[in-house]
Amino acid sequence: MKKKAIESLSVQTKVVLPHDTNTLNTLFGGSLLAWMDEIASISAHRHCGRVVVTASINNVSFDRPISSGEIVTLEAKVSRAFSSSMEVFVDVYVENSNGTREKCNEAIFVFVAIDQNRNPINIPALIPESLEEKDRFDSALRRKQLSLVLAGRLNPEDALELKAALFPKL
Ligand SMILES: CC(C)(COP(=O)(O)OP(=O)(O)OC[C@H]1O[C@@H](n2cnc3c(N)ncnc32)[C@H](O)[C@@H]1OP(=O)(O)O)[C@@H](O)C(=O)NCCC(=O)NCCS
Repeated sequence: MKKKAIESLSVQTKVVLPHDTNTLNTLFGGSLLAWMDEIASISAHRHCGRVVVTASINNVSFDRPISSGEIVTLEAKVSRAFSSSMEVFVDVYVENSNGTREKCNEAIFVFVAIDQNRNPINIPALIPESLEEKDRFDSALRRKQLSLVLAGRLNPEDALELKAALFPKL
């Protein structure tokens, strides 16, 4: 069975309260990471309908500080499903007073679906539809290989797609 990327979309809107801020009165990075992990896990669960655990958090970027009182929207969607693991993108936006929104953060998570014995279990494949979904789907294998290399789970020599992208002339 295959599922569309859009079926995993999860959205959450929050206001930044004082207990989520650092000494500069802006959103504490650890709080934002926890929010992103939660919404990403919901998205992964929507895709596979299984218990999921966070295997890796990659490419977290904090591009703009978010002030106390600002309204933040997190959007998570599965970008690709492999055998038991899923890559989930989380895009974070801040709402301006005129109603427009500005993207301020992005993170890429990897979740693994597990069975009752906590062993990885097979999940449905993902169908990307929009241009962005297709772009993220196409590049996900390289990111999976990079994540596995950094975790010491894959020999760099065996990361063929990653090597081809980094060193196209080899
Ligand atoms: C994640 C976990 C289930 C993987 O179990 P494992 O026995 O090592 O399983 P495998 O080596 O077969 O890997 C399972 C899948 O995870 C992927 N994976 C594991 N570590 C990864 C990493 N660092 N980056 C990307 N993918 C990873 C593997 O590539 C594999 O994907 P595939 O089946 O889609 O090809 C296990 O390591 C675990 O339980 N970790 C703790 C999770 C946790 O507590 N998270 C925080 C709280 S939710």
